[in-house]
Amino acid sequence: MLSSSACVGQNRIGAGEIKDTYQKLCSSCHGKQLQGGSGSSLIDDEWKFGSSDAEIANVIRDGAIKLGMPAWKNALSDKEIRAMVIFIREQKSISQKAVVEQMLAPQKGIYNAAGEKFTLEVLTEGNDIFWSLAFMPDQSLLITQRNGNLLHYKGNKLQQIKGTPKVWRHGQGGLLEVYLHPQYSRNGWVYLSYSETKDGNSGMTAVSRGRIKDGKWVDEQKIFTSAKSLHTGAGTHFGSRFVFADGYLYFAIGDRGRKHQAQDLSKPNGKIHRIHDDGRIPSDNPFINKRNAIPSIWSYGHRNPQGLDLDPNTGLLWETEHGPRGGDEVNLIEKGKNYGWPEITYGMNYSGTPITEHTHKPGMEQPKHYWVPSIAVAGIDFYEGKAFKNWQGKLLVSGLASQELHLLDIKNKQVVSDTIVLKNAGRVRDVATGPDGNIYLLLNRSSSKLARLVPVN
Ligand code: HEC
Repeated sequence: MLSSSACVGQNRIGAGEIKDTYQKLCSSCHGKQLQGGSGSSLIDDEWKFGSSDAEIANVIRDGAIKLGMPAWKNALSDKEIRAMVIFIREQKSISQKAVVEQMLAPQKGIYNAAGEKFTLEVLTEGNDIFWSLAFMPDQSLLITQRNGNLLHYKGNKLQQIKGTPKVWRHGQGGLLEVYLHPQYSRNGWVYLSYSETKDGNSGMTAVSRGRIKDGKWVDEQKIFTSAKSLHTGAGTHFGSRFVFADGYLYFAIGDRGRKHQAQDLSKPNGKIHRIHDDGRIPSDNPFINKRNAIPSIWSYGHRNPQGLDLDPNTGLLWETEHGPRGGDEVNLIEKGKNYGWPEITYGMNYSGTPITEHTHKPGMEQPKHYWVPSIAVAGIDFYEGKAFKNWQGKLLVSGLASQELHLLDIKNKQVVSDTIVLKNAGRVRDVATGPDGNIYLLLNRSSSKLARLVPVN
């Protein structure tokens, strides 16, 4: 038994921030920056005992006594060991940041990544957060601003559409997603999601559709709303994105800062929902006959979904969601399934304290891909244009805190590669393939920008 831990009760050493625990217990051998000392470097990506999270956790738990690595199982709980693994992964990423930045920096304004050369053009700017964008048939664009404004970008001008729904401008809430009905040219329906409140103190994500005529929002119909008793006062995790598939509208609501409600089918938050385009509930939704369940629920156990798209080649529904600190996820969404938040996660609390040691549980889906550290995933889009030949069919994933755009290759329902293609241009909120094949981005910094990536031949 290890003497340094024998006298200390379970949870005492590891309580509090994991970085302090590391400095106290580990830095004397592995270095203050994890660079190594009498123990090996923990950030050089060389792993004597295996590189998976589970193998690293095992060495920390059971030690490698003969080599001089103590066992920590009496000093650290499993969830603290899990947090330590997350901390080690974060530190490695931080140590590589400069290298990645240099690799992705443009040369004379030309970026070069994943087999494509391109420029970044800024088209227009706004003073409040640009949240979502949607192309109109005439190639003009609708852009939501979180402060509640729906903007029309046409002929290099931004014009506000008057009369859109009143939003609850609270924390991460406001006007969120905008999406056109797949038969927009025939029916003119535009869909919006936003945070609504009934008393000014609490709220929930709602969905409305309407038409735009002469610069005005008309014919509005609210197609999803929640009873006031289901609202929460939190300013976080409203979701939300839309996608249409087989005539149904799918949309996401985040857990609204009430993480255990993500597992509760009588609550709308922490769920992906499925409704008809006019708000009616499809008769084959999975929980339609379950007592007290919200009938629009399609899947549950989600933290804060911020990306939703259909793979045009397979018709499968993919989602990205914000994990906590570590544990941003890419999920393949299927009917009635439980995605595990907060029972399982690859992340820990923002404060650096553990949430759980569980990354797997029976009956709960595994993400197809996850990021530790988190990149703060936002909007996604399967690239369907012709301009970026090497990116066709791949999934573009935007990242806020990381200021990154990723390109994921998905084969046979698995993410087989993840490449960063843009870094440090701003917080990437949303991404969409334009009708011209260029890649359109919403970037948030001190101001918000509509920008596009244009290939250089
Ligand atoms: C007394 C010195 C010492 C302390 C304290 C110590 N380690 Fe180690 N650790 C080692 C040695 C020695 C090895 C064996 C392999 C090597 O690094 O050459 C090792 C191996 C490891 C490995 C496996 C590395 C690999 O290549 O697979 C991990 C992970 C690890 N330690 C994490 C920790 C953590 C986390 C702590 C604090 C809770 C800690 N160690 C505290 C000495 C130490």
